[in-house]
Amino acid sequence: MEPLNESPGLPESFPDTILDGSRFIRACLRRPVDRTPVWFLRQAGRYMQEYRDVRKHHTLVEICKQPDLASEVTITAAEKLGVDAAIIFADLLLPLEPMGLPFEFQAGEGPVVHHPVRTAEDVRALRTDRTEDLAYVARAIQKVAAHFRNRLGIIGFCGAPFTLASYMIEGGGSKNYIHTKQMMYRDTLSWRLLLDKLVKVLEEYCRLQVLAGADVIQIFDSWVGSLAVADYREYVLEASKRLVLAVQKMGVPVIYFGVDTAGLLPDMASTGADVIGLDWRQPLEEAWRVVGHGHAVQGNLDPITLFAPLEVLELRVKEILRAANGRPGHIFNLGHGIVPTTPVQNVQAVVRMVKEFRLNEPTL
Ligand code: CP3
Repeated sequence: MEPLNESPGLPESFPDTILDGSRFIRACLRRPVDRTPVWFLRQAGRYMQEYRDVRKHHTLVEICKQPDLASEVTITAAEKLGVDAAIIFADLLLPLEPMGLPFEFQAGEGPVVHHPVRTAEDVRALRTDRTEDLAYVARAIQKVAAHFRNRLGIIGFCGAPFTLASYMIEGGGSKNYIHTKQMMYRDTLSWRLLLDKLVKVLEEYCRLQVLAGADVIQIFDSWVGSLAVADYREYVLEASKRLVLAVQKMGVPVIYFGVDTAGLLPDMASTGADVIGLDWRQPLEEAWRVVGHGHAVQGNLDPITLFAPLEVLELRVKEILRAANGRPGHIFNLGHGIVPTTPVQNVQAVVRMVKEFRLNEPTL
């Protein structure tokens, strides 16, 4: 039997009426909703003129570290799109700094970690006692929560232990994850210590976000799809599971997301995450069956469909909504983030399509 996987803190106190702000949270908990909630991965970003205007005057990290700016960017994107949830503007890599690993974003190259973690000594030197330094993210969440009150769901987030470890070890993005897997296979003790340290920091980081008003936490395991199932089980699953459980104990649902995860879905679901984020490579109904209907799912439009003519876009959006078939626990989203040259009006069109969709309308 599939376990009923409700987050410990929520059910008792959670309202029965569907308020706009609770639609998304209800769907995370597989409760009935009046319509499918919708938001987008990377909904605040370079495809939006308002964000580019802020970016003219500030670096990405400056925006993250100034709660006034981070909250403004978060709020502007959510309002402009008319979505059901706002994801806090931050970056996956922020926790690296208090752990003792400075990084920067180099134009066109993505993140660069200056002294990657490669040896047992490097792992031992990582600090886990300065998570409070990330309180600027919590302050931004407080501002977003004060602005929206109960009108929208507020999403906090962090990287998953594997995906963050891969940035720390590779020193940036990677194709083959050779250094990461080498540490996993050859110095398993250091690998496990690294994941332990990450879980400790990420748990505290999520706690800051929940206390500040995050309704849901999304854990990004963006690059977990690079792992064989056997390696995920042996070297990663336990740490992911520990983080998921620790966050659920704070009383909020958890969304666990990865890319290229078709083969990993049953194991990702076994973390107990309330919602599994799906990429676009598998039809939603198939992926949901594999995940198990005891979990909610989020997804899964190909972000590049946003470049298609509206008729094609509408066809794909409706296909996904029909595949979900009105079953409680579907959150409409992309299968990965919006890319920088995406036309904003097409993103807004998708929001309209989701809001107007009726399951029983004729399929001409
Ligand atoms: O609305 C939002 O989702 C924005 C908040 C957000 C950012 N990063 C801001 C950002 C979120 C949720 C992230 C998560 C993130 N960061 C992930 C996981 C999500 C995913 O895509 O799988 C990852 C892997 C990162 C690391 C990262 N940050 C990379 C690889 C890059 C470079 C990408 C590129 O196209 O240059 C970033 C930069 C980044 N983080 C940008 C934004 C809006 C764009 C760069 C900029 O404004 O200069």
